[in-house]
Amino acid sequence: GVKSKIVIGNWKMNGSAELVESFTRTMLDNQAAYAGIRVVLCPPFTLLQAMADALEGGPILLGAQNVSEFEQGAHTGEISAPMLASMGTKMVIIGHSERRASRGENDRIIAAKVKQALSVGMLPVLCVGETAEEKARGDSGAVVWQQLSVVLHAIGSELFGQLIVAYEPIWAIGSGSTASTDDILTITTAIHAKLAQLGIQLPLLYGGSVNAGNAAQISSLPTISGLLVGGASLQAGQFLLLCSNT
Ligand code: G3H
Repeated sequence: GVKSKIVIGNWKMNGSAELVESFTRTMLDNQAAYAGIRVVLCPPFTLLQAMADALEGGPILLGAQNVSEFEQGAHTGEISAPMLASMGTKMVIIGHSERRASRGENDRIIAAKVKQALSVGMLPVLCVGETAEEKARGDSGAVVWQQLSVVLHAIGSELFGQLIVAYEPIWAIGSGSTASTDDILTITTAIHAKLAQLGIQLPLLYGGSVNAGNAAQISSLPTISGLLVGGASLQAGQFLLLCSNT
């Protein structure tokens, strides 16, 4: 593409101190493979500091997988946006479908999390996407716009330009098969058109079974600014190849 693409690796609830060490060594030893691409790694909270130390001074950015909707206080087990920012976290994934489905995250909570991230200068990566049933009903575009517009409405127009949006069809996540490029193009074109009506332009990423083999085709779509990668971000060799193909 003409502008620099973004590749975000989401380790989900995987990884170890050993993986941080070997993975970052491989990535930092092979920087030519992702020259001109913005790479972000999102390990679990417990590995953020080790990852921050390993990445220090290099071109790869640190991201988190979640953030509290509260700023501070009596919220046992929560991690705040200021805490994440203080460790050098530049981005945070918010509203992942796995959290919407199993952690009870609704639009109100997700909007509050986005506001928390923005308040400390972290870039929110807002995940949106339809279920298989919604797709079968032909509702993909409406569902995705509903998820996105609720957050835009909540954060206020002065902050509209401060988001990255990841389109992740839920049925494509971890399934081994991506959405078709036609479907990705249709949905993301519609999102761009709706955003344009509000006078804004946001980077749209695709996520859902991206791997080294399909990264080139998906990332070259004119509506797509990058990729959100789960499973294929856990093995350094594969992730490196994926980045070089983006
Ligand atoms: O955040 C990443 C997405 O959920 C995609 O996961 O690449 O394992 O399908 P996946």
